[in-house]
Amino acid sequence: MGYKIAVIPGDGTGPEVTREGLKVFKAAADRFGFSYDQTDYDFGAARYLRTGETLPESAVAELEKHDAVLLGAVGHPNVAPGILEHGILLYLRRALDQYVNLRPVKLLPGVWTPIKDKGPEDIDFVVVRENTEGLYTSTGGFLKKGTPDEVAVQESVNTRMGVERCLRYAFEYARRPDRHGRLTLCGKTNVLTYAWDLWWRAFNEIGDADYPDVKRDYAHVDAISMWFLKNPEWFDVIVTDNMFGDIITDQAAMIQGGLGVAAGGNIHPERCSMFEPMGGSAPKYEGLNVINPLAAIAAAGMMLDFLHRPEAAVEVEKGMVYAISKMESLAAGQMGMGTSDVGDLVARYVAEGGAA
Ligand code: IPM
Ligand code: MN
Repeated sequence: MGYKIAVIPGDGTGPEVTREGLKVFKAAADRFGFSYDQTDYDFGAARYLRTGETLPESAVAELEKHDAVLLGAVGHPNVAPGILEHGILLYLRRALDQYVNLRPVKLLPGVWTPIKDKGPEDIDFVVVRENTEGLYTSTGGFLKKGTPDEVAVQESVNTRMGVERCLRYAFEYARRPDRHGRLTLCGKTNVLTYAWDLWWRAFNEIGDADYPDVKRDYAHVDAISMWFLKNPEWFDVIVTDNMFGDIITDQAAMIQGGLGVAAGGNIHPERCSMFEPMGGSAPKYEGLNVINPLAAIAAAGMMLDFLHRPEAAVEVEKGMVYAISKMESLAAGQMGMGTSDVGDLVARYVAEGGAA
């Protein structure tokens, strides 16, 4: 019996990069001896422009039957900003209860970082971002909208259950053999005294009761933004809320070499989880075979790890390092090879267990 994988290639360069991610996934399946069924879904801008709906009624029930989803990118110049983000990405995160957004931040050998004097041994941490609550719940409203007295309220929702399950995921992650048993809570306890009081109490109570072996630490979100640039080596696993996590993971993506290599997972540990490259749909590069697929390949690697194939995920990362050593640059159009060539290099490495 194999895995059930759903694929949402999406818009722009999404289909090109997911194709390479799947090529590598297939190489891993062949090499490590597991099978899977793949179902493709055409959700994205083209379907929305044709039908007027972001997702069909059946989408959640369909996706739920799968173990994991590989998503390319959604976004198109002819669709107003926010529609596809809310209607597809944010909707699915919530409907599938993918309560963790996992963002590994690892500078791979051969990748340029803007941080002077820091290398792969210094930039290697993961951010566990709460993915269903906080400022992302669309709680709030307008008063006297459109008048000079207008009031807009946008509330941050933090439930004990939601905070606790995210924290537990992060504590567990810190215990993984490939981590170092250190967990940093990133918040704003000095100003946001309701939300971060709850997070702070839950963090310490859970840590004392169930994870005494995990070393706890705390950083304000503004300070962590500074330390990412100055001392990224201080961090192992970081846990934070939805909004802060959104912001700090883009900054972190830059110190690991940019959106061309950064991937993320929307995770419910026991249910269908969704993996995506961080870069957008890059419509201007669509169909040219010049976009860098490494982030989508990294997303496929995260999917392997989620599917309890850590040995395959490690090979994918090694294959990426090998491909990077052959590439002239990670920038679109400057790689010295095409999108599919990068996928071929990684897939061959994974298939053969090394560079032939
Ligand atoms: C991310 C993205 C999304 C977010 C957008 C596209 C809605 O920025 O995954 O970080 O804000 O969560
Ligand atoms: Mn973001």
